[in-house]
Amino acid sequence: MTMYLASNLRATSAPALTELMARVREISSKSRIINLAQAVVDFPPPEPFIEAVIESIRGDHIHRYSPDPGWLHLRQTLADYLNRSFGLNVHPENELIITPGANQACFEAFMSILEPGDEVIIPAPWYFNHAMTVTMLGGILKAVPAHSRDDYIPDPERIKDLITEKTRAFVFVNPNNPTGSRYSDEWVREVGDILADREIWVISDQTYQEIVFQGGRPLSMASLPGMHEKTVTVGSFSKSLGIAGWRIGFLAGPDMLVEQAIKVQDCSIISAPNITQSGLMATLPHLESFREKYLPVLKRRRDAFCEGIQACREIRYTEPQGSIFVFLRLPDSWDEMDFARHLLEKAGVALVPATGFGPGGKGGLRVSFGATLEKDLVVAAEKIGECVKSYK
Ligand SMILES: Cc1ncc(COP(=O)(O)O)c(C=O)c1O
Repeated sequence: MTMYLASNLRATSAPALTELMARVREISSKSRIINLAQAVVDFPPPEPFIEAVIESIRGDHIHRYSPDPGWLHLRQTLADYLNRSFGLNVHPENELIITPGANQACFEAFMSILEPGDEVIIPAPWYFNHAMTVTMLGGILKAVPAHSRDDYIPDPERIKDLITEKTRAFVFVNPNNPTGSRYSDEWVREVGDILADREIWVISDQTYQEIVFQGGRPLSMASLPGMHEKTVTVGSFSKSLGIAGWRIGFLAGPDMLVEQAIKVQDCSIISAPNITQSGLMATLPHLESFREKYLPVLKRRRDAFCEGIQACREIRYTEPQGSIFVFLRLPDSWDEMDFARHLLEKAGVALVPATGFGPGGKGGLRVSFGATLEKDLVVAAEKIGECVKSYK
């Protein structure tokens, strides 16, 4: 007897990374590798976070359920921060949910808006979890190709070309995973103008909103006139505070959407962990100084890698303006998965082949520089260059 499994889930493919990542673990248990695969930073959480967590662990309230949307005083503090720093106009009581991370927030947003057969426009190469979520909910992905020649920023007119009566949402990540591009304020405005009069949701994934090297913090779509009512802003503290394992992020959107999204949170995870909320509450006032401390370190890492990889003429890349990624493009016709395997075996450097990152993933490799020392990034770039020369 073959038991039935949901067709939308069977139709959803995860990036074919399992075998490569198993090999990374196997090799790294015996010898040292330079791991540029994981989308993490290596900074310890800020001291106020650690202190608050230690202190609050003995409090009774920590062991019970949190209110589904998170502690009200945390939502108030976060709403103040988002409204002040990103020009949002979020009401803490009914327009903000503290979620266990940005992925959960995206899931809640897509669950709240998508019907099977609905189309979602998304620049490609894309963040594969967005694509997976849309597919598992029966949505249809409509890729807007983002090319290296345009620094991976698609022409807004191409977005317009893809709009049909079935378009339910446009989703974008700014600054971007996997390309490292920061969409300019002008671009965000142009896309906002295209969408303003249409019944199309925007999901603005701002997981890397604090990690910007050029051009300042990104313009939030929700801050534009008329866009508050149709934009879901999603964010995370995984990278900006180095607390990926503690699981905390947020969803901000109009109350009619938040009213639906909270049902998804209730049925799946109930709330973000109390203990993490206590840490975040104590840390939010220090976010700025933490950012000032780690941003130059990340920038130096980016520069060290980019300077190194520049010497390799066969590889194209765009210097990232934000996030923790450099997107490399191999010569046409090279297979990114095969090259990533070769690089791991020959040179002990792990990165993520962009197989499964949508139509723009072919020949692409994602390097994460968030958790690697400058000197190792220099060595990694050199090794990638050598491997390119010895490949094929
Ligand atoms: C674009 C994007 N969105 C969401 C996430 C998930 O973040 P979180 O750890 O907050 O769930 C990531 C993590 O890599 C990401 O890159």
